[in-house]
Amino acid sequence: MEISHIREANSEDTGRLIEVFSNSIKTAAVKDYTPNEIKEWLKTTQNKSRWRDLLKEQVVLVAEVRNQVVGFASLKEGNYLDFMYVHSDFMRQGIAQCLLNEVLDRVKSLKMESISSDVSITAKPFFEKNGFKVVRKNENHRGEEVLINYHMTCEVPTA
Ligand SMILES: CC(C)(COP(=O)(O)OP(=O)(O)OC[C@H]1O[C@@H](n2cnc3c(N)ncnc32)[C@H](O)[C@@H]1OP(=O)(O)O)[C@@H](O)C(=O)NCCC(=O)NCCS
Repeated sequence: MEISHIREANSEDTGRLIEVFSNSIKTAAVKDYTPNEIKEWLKTTQNKSRWRDLLKEQVVLVAEVRNQVVGFASLKEGNYLDFMYVHSDFMRQGIAQCLLNEVLDRVKSLKMESISSDVSITAKPFFEKNGFKVVRKNENHRGEEVLINYHMTCEVPTA
């Protein structure tokens, strides 16, 4: 898959970020979470301040193919990976890998020695492949549901 480029997101991307987020949960995460858990997770799409703050407070990187945003990742406070979502039409084509490589370059340029994230059951194999290790299992209470994810960290070689 040819990614035209990875660039920083701007406020005009918000609608597409929400579309990609929503699509990836409905198509991929649906295999690992119950319908009610998915419903709770998707409530984030209605949280306008979450998306506004995301663009204000984090470095958000988008991957584009033919000028279309097909995935995005975000870096909070230098070395916490908050979002990593890829549209279903573009999964398993190396998009998340390209985004993570760019994120890791940013972490290295800040001279930080590790990166962490709270990773869905669905995304765990991707992060394990990239050397991330589980530190703890999280139980996130959302409404009546308990969504499981994993706090994972990875050392970032500085050389
Ligand atoms: C997890 C996710 C971001 C991966 O995106 P992607 O662009 O498909 O991943 P890549 O193509 O870059 O994968 C690179 C490698 O990671 C591993 N990998 C990725 N997805 C995997 C999966 N579902 N199962 C097993 N290994 C996987 C594979 O080794 C893959 O290489 P390969 O395809 O040559 O075997 C994507 O599946 C997604 O958006 N999932 C739903 C949303 C989600 O849970 N996001 C994370 C929230 S923390």
